[in-house]
Amino acid sequence: MNKLTAKDLTAQEKLRLLLGVGAWDLYDAEGKLPRFTMSDGPVGLRRVLSVREDGSEEMKPSVAYPAIAVLANTWDRALARKMGEALASDCLENGVDLLLAPGVNIKRDPRNGRNFEYFSEDPYLAGVMAREYVDGLQQSGVGACVKHFCANNLEYDRFEQSSEVDERTLYEIYYKPFSIVCEAKPVSLMCSYNRVNGQYAAENKRGFAALRGELGFDGAIFSDWEAVHDRTRSAKAGLDIEMPFNEAHFGQLVKDYESGVLSDEELDACAQRVIDLIYRCKEMHEGKRAPLTVEERLSVAEKIEREGAVLLKNEGILPLKKGTRAAVAGCYAKAEPTSLVFGGGSARMVWLGQPFDLAALLSERLGEQTVYERAFLPKVAIGNAALGIPARAVENAALADVSIVCAGTGADLEYESGDRESIRLPEVQERAIVDIAKANPETVVVLFAGSAVDVSAWEPYVKGILLAGFCGERGGAAVADLLCGLACPSGRLAETFPCALEDVPAANTFRNANVTRYSEGLDVGYRYFVGAGKPVRYPFGFGLSYAVFEYSGLRVQTDGDTLELSYLVRNTSQTDGKEVSQVYVRPIAAKVYRPERELKGWSKDEVAAGGQVRVTVRLGRDAFSYWSAAEARERVDDGVYEVIVGKNCTDARLRCKVCIRGGNIVLP
Ligand code: BGC
Repeated sequence: MNKLTAKDLTAQEKLRLLLGVGAWDLYDAEGKLPRFTMSDGPVGLRRVLSVREDGSEEMKPSVAYPAIAVLANTWDRALARKMGEALASDCLENGVDLLLAPGVNIKRDPRNGRNFEYFSEDPYLAGVMAREYVDGLQQSGVGACVKHFCANNLEYDRFEQSSEVDERTLYEIYYKPFSIVCEAKPVSLMCSYNRVNGQYAAENKRGFAALRGELGFDGAIFSDWEAVHDRTRSAKAGLDIEMPFNEAHFGQLVKDYESGVLSDEELDACAQRVIDLIYRCKEMHEGKRAPLTVEERLSVAEKIEREGAVLLKNEGILPLKKGTRAAVAGCYAKAEPTSLVFGGGSARMVWLGQPFDLAALLSERLGEQTVYERAFLPKVAIGNAALGIPARAVENAALADVSIVCAGTGADLEYESGDRESIRLPEVQERAIVDIAKANPETVVVLFAGSAVDVSAWEPYVKGILLAGFCGERGGAAVADLLCGLACPSGRLAETFPCALEDVPAANTFRNANVTRYSEGLDVGYRYFVGAGKPVRYPFGFGLSYAVFEYSGLRVQTDGDTLELSYLVRNTSQTDGKEVSQVYVRPIAAKVYRPERELKGWSKDEVAAGGQVRVTVRLGRDAFSYWSAAEARERVDDGVYEVIVGKNCTDARLRCKVCIRGGNIVLP
């Protein structure tokens, strides 16, 4: 490819490159540069074909994968990579050069309307899963745009809120997933809307310098859509592309260049990065074809749900036996292309395939007719102005062997640009679950929600809870298989389910119209709950299985740089299953404040019934490091550390101690 550089373009062309064309394209300098187009989104290609007169968008249907929150719950690196490959296939078939995904923001607050688009409350888990997704996408020929940088953890007043975060917390929690994802060399990144310590994210010179310095980012930086306030200030801070095109901003940029406010060096730096982005993406997909067929992509979507659904409660009710007569209730059991089992906003798309019907899928598997009553919509009962649900649903449950209530949220309650006020289910749903479970205590709730739910109002009444999440278009089949034991649940929570919203530190920190103080610092999610010894409903890393696993035989060795742990996971049950063993590091007598324990490694392994596997997990020195604000660098302090292998962040199964001496890992 004969490549141009910034030097080959006129100043006017370079200035024009610093803003997009419309909402989805880049400027091609009148044909001198290749044409370039991009699309949302994280859980399915959202190709906008046209914008109707009323402002609504006509979208091309595409494969709907489960939400990123479900992908995170799989803890399966290979599957994250597969999702990247599948999405790349969708992009390549539609001529899309860059996918505006994935989002790696930390789930600091369970109310955040976009949590379903994000991976985790833990920066390591979020970073590693995102890195694999980006690698899968880019190796298959499509560029990634990692978003939203940075500290954008609520949608509340998102254009003005200042997230006030101390330096160390920024590096250890909020920058961390970005630094890990940079190992996959994403070609681009998107800034967020909010302000960071008073400064608009689009003008965050220090943040961009950190990205291009310590965090190892070498691509182009996009604005979020309409996040730019002053194009020149953004350019001077290092933001390369404003999206979408804005006439007034462009005019001002030209004036500022002509009057010397924006220098040639500054203009060239941004323009060159835009040019590099265009060529990098073109080279990336040169000669590449969609690696997966549509049917294979749909299987990936189904597999993510099968591996990412989390069994939260099971008092001997699941799996359902053949011949069980089941009654299904709730609007989420039937999904449609404009479905309820989806979050709202820029991640919402139009499904490609067939809608699912959980009752029909269960009938097939159980060999008995499953009855269905829609009973309620997300916030209202059907056919009843009051809160009570139709008597029919309760009667169905009473007459069945088992009742399945499909409850949850969806785009009405979890969406971009707004947050949930409460993390409880709408009152009508809570009452429906309790009424149905009173009529038949053999009740399972399947929860179609994109983030943590306070289950306390109804959990004691039911015998089983399966978190399906926002399950994508093949989710119904996966959920039916899990309920009937044709698949063994192996998802684990990538976020804490607190007992109540008030227990979450972020819910109690200062927030007004302008400012959100991150006064909990490093103690986000389980870091807080474990350290404070505060009970939660379901801890980070939690998930039940139909199989039973035991841990033993921990062996530890080190060459000074790497700690190698190996241990046995034995499946003592008669069901094949997968276990996610998690490795946490706990500093003992640390020299600076450290969270009580932090996830530093994990392994997901298939273990046949009655079998065992020896699992190996390696930790580098960075597993012991923290960000020293005093020295503005990562530090590893000499000292003693406990390494914990567990089923989740509170259920430790194996432990050992290791030391750091003179910066090396040694065994005591
Ligand atoms: C969202 C981005 C999205 C963009 C384009 C913005 O409102 O915050 O995540 O990629 O719109 O749709």
